[in-house]
Amino acid sequence: MSKAQTVSTTAVDPTVAAAAAQFLSPVVHGLEALVVNGKQAHWHVRGANFVGVHELLDQVVARVQDFADTAAERIVALGLPIDSRLSTVAEKAAKTSVPAGFAQSEEIINAVVSDIDAILVEVKAAVEGLDAVDLTSQDVAIEIQRGLEKDRWFLISHVAA
Ligand SMILES: [Fe+2]
Repeated sequence: MSKAQTVSTTAVDPTVAAAAAQFLSPVVHGLEALVVNGKQAHWHVRGANFVGVHELLDQVVARVQDFADTAAERIVALGLPIDSRLSTVAEKAAKTSVPAGFAQSEEIINAVVSDIDAILVEVKAAVEGLDAVDLTSQDVAIEIQRGLEKDRWFLISHVAA
């Protein structure tokens, strides 16, 4: 009679999983907030380069949602949950610079770039903190840093001299 094998729900040490979740959770919260605030910016931008900025903001939102998915699923793949309910995101994420109503494209772009910069602080902390802990989770953070820095460049190039 064969005994059923015990299969672990996670592939890594629980300490590693906890550290990955500690560094990646703020990244998920910041990105999920940017998904909502980026749509707010997309809907209310007016003025110079309207069509280009309006459409670019939608593309940024789509990429940011993908980044959030990658970070969240890394945590879950390590066997831990991520609380990314809207109420939790609102509590944990940095306050947005995106205004509540219509605004000129330069103000909107500066606001979204400022939000990206706040997330990049958490992303860089994850890249550094995960270096000695879990290179695979660090790779997730590096991918997100590279992507956010590219979107930051695309946005700021509309208003930079
Ligand atoms: Fe739209």
